[in-house]
Amino acid sequence: MNLVFLGPPGAGKGTIASQAKKHFDIPHISTGDLFRNHIKGETTLGKQVKAILASGDLVPDTITIAMVEQRLAEADAKKGFILDGFPRTIAQAEALNSMTKLDAVVNFELDREQIIKRLSGRRVCKSTGRTYHLVFDPPKREGVDDETGEALIQRDDDKPEAIAHRLDVYLKQTEPLIAFYRNAKLLVDVDASLAPEAVLAEMVSALA
Ligand code: AP5
Repeated sequence: MNLVFLGPPGAGKGTIASQAKKHFDIPHISTGDLFRNHIKGETTLGKQVKAILASGDLVPDTITIAMVEQRLAEADAKKGFILDGFPRTIAQAEALNSMTKLDAVVNFELDREQIIKRLSGRRVCKSTGRTYHLVFDPPKREGVDDETGEALIQRDDDKPEAIAHRLDVYLKQTEPLIAFYRNAKLLVDVDASLAPEAVLAEMVSALA
């Protein structure tokens, strides 16, 4: 199954993808995680994109498309994939069309107020990427990862100024993809305001 997860920042794409990848036995490919791994590893690409991610702007299409093309060519993606956070522009969607054929695009719907609550309360473990929420999904012990015991951090782009900017970028550059994929008859709308188990169940039944 070749899936794209589309939706505003903080809609829960990564949270649901980490469960859906087990359900469908396919890899979860998050462009945000790929970029963050480059930044952590201080690669040339990481140095190039660090400030862009912190500000909430999009990385240029050429860089992002090349990175995804390379990732989709890896062996594990041959049996299917969940692309989370890609495409984010019409140019990326057109490039993806020329790389592979999609089975569905899941559109995570969530209102602005909920988005802001989810992003501002998100905390992550830097080394594992595991995600928590101060209210909705707190760690067992305040401020530390359940498994590694490392201190949790707030992503630079989850600070208030960056959140507002990411939402503007989403509306201008990414939201047009909803019509793009609806026209292509690939879009599956999901109510992302429900609890994660309910979002996953709704999505699985809609895809079936
Ligand atoms: P990326 O990492 O893709 O960020 P995003 O799309 O903004 O998505 P998020 O990771 O913020 O949110 P999510 O929907 O995965 O929510 P999550 O599950 O964590 O991209 C980061 C940056 O990389 C971009 O700004 C850009 O610079 C660059 N980039 C990436 N892709 C690019 C591309 N294609 N082109 C160009 N640039 C690109 O959940 C959020 C919080 O809510 C968590 O705390 C979670 O615990 C909680 N939560 C989740 N689901 C629920 C629920 N159902 N109920 C209650 N709480 C929930």
